[in-house]
Amino acid sequence: MLRLNEAKKILEKYNQMHILKYYDELSEEEKANLLTQIESADFSVLESLDSSEEFGGKRGSFEPLGAVTADEIEKNHDAFSEVGLDAIRQGKAAAVLLAGGQGTRLGFDKPKGMYNMGVEHEVYIFQCLINNLLDVVRQAGAWIPLYIMTSEKNYGETAEFFREKNNFGYNGEYIKFFVQDMAVSTDCDGKVLMESKCSISMSPNGNGGWFSSIVRAGLLDEIKNKGVEWLNVFAVDNVLQRMADPAFLGAVILSGCQSGGKVVSKAAPDEKVGVLCLEDGKPSIVEYYEMTEEMRTRCEPDGTLSYNYGVILNYLFNVNKLEEIADNRMPIHVVKKKIPYMDETGEMIKPDEPNGYKFETLVLDMIHMQDSCLSYEVDRRREFAPVKNLSGVDSVDTARILLAENGVEL
Ligand code: UTP
Repeated sequence: MLRLNEAKKILEKYNQMHILKYYDELSEEEKANLLTQIESADFSVLESLDSSEEFGGKRGSFEPLGAVTADEIEKNHDAFSEVGLDAIRQGKAAAVLLAGGQGTRLGFDKPKGMYNMGVEHEVYIFQCLINNLLDVVRQAGAWIPLYIMTSEKNYGETAEFFREKNNFGYNGEYIKFFVQDMAVSTDCDGKVLMESKCSISMSPNGNGGWFSSIVRAGLLDEIKNKGVEWLNVFAVDNVLQRMADPAFLGAVILSGCQSGGKVVSKAAPDEKVGVLCLEDGKPSIVEYYEMTEEMRTRCEPDGTLSYNYGVILNYLFNVNKLEEIADNRMPIHVVKKKIPYMDETGEMIKPDEPNGYKFETLVLDMIHMQDSCLSYEVDRRREFAPVKNLSGVDSVDTARILLAENGVEL
């Protein structure tokens, strides 16, 4: 553990001495707790506040990237599926559920996956996802390893919920939980927020840390020993998400690409969705706010938008490539959020408005580290029902309509 003078050196460097304001009045145990936190926290993320890395740093030059369209997929569906199912039966695919987020927009005080989408029945978000994965298990006649990433904050509740619900019928031997790293959060002046006199406010460090957290949890060896070649990474909050989709897997394998991303055709040129494209000749995702008007409205000769394919956080990555890029530094995104904190008088405040910054790495930045990525178009009404808010756009309300349309009894 750090000694006090070592901790002071770190904090002076980053101009964060206020963290020790109450140090002298703490018990020995509390002192140790605080010093351990200072030792493990990555303060270097604070540098991104000065280097205007807010949008992931300076971007290169963008070009459109076409997709295997839904029509083409329909025509080749059986051939794609056959290759994918074969890979699944040989144990070459695993699924990685990203469930470490805090779901602040939904305003639900439990892990998002525990939200009940049902009206008359219990239909939890986790249940929707597991049911979709079970479809593939039945089709393949083989279990698919499922790795679930939680944060330190929601690990206990998530794991307990799966236990209580008997894994929603999934084979528990194929489910493994792992915990992602945490990062400090600050107020709007870049001062690290405190959660109490002896603890720094920490938040999950974004979904981009999933692979390094897998490695740190010691799961990579297991993955490789099992012969897994492809990891399908997906978000918890798309209740129509189809994981380890045999046709998607087969299409990526047959294409020879290093990675794949499920995409949907944009509903309108100004839809707020990141688009899979090329940046300096390599696959990349351009965020809606980074697109110029010209990019947003540009069309191909057949009339479709040139930047047409929005990502839905469902990617396939090759394990060999992931290992190769494991040590690459990922861009840090600074996001403004509501962060509970202890004020100068020692009182806990739960803000109603965003009051500070969190520092996150994002899985989408891994796409730019790949040499190639197959853009794979799916039907949004069948595979894209994000639950970000309680009502309005991308909400419980809109997702319920889509679930019902897809035959889920609510
Ligand atoms: P979001 O970007 O929607 O973040 O996550 P969030 O924290 O869940 O929700 P808001 O923004 O506070 O409302 C997209 C996906 O990435 C996961 C989430 O669980 C979700 O599946 N995620 C996000 C993590 O696993 N870890 C993180 O640190 C952040």
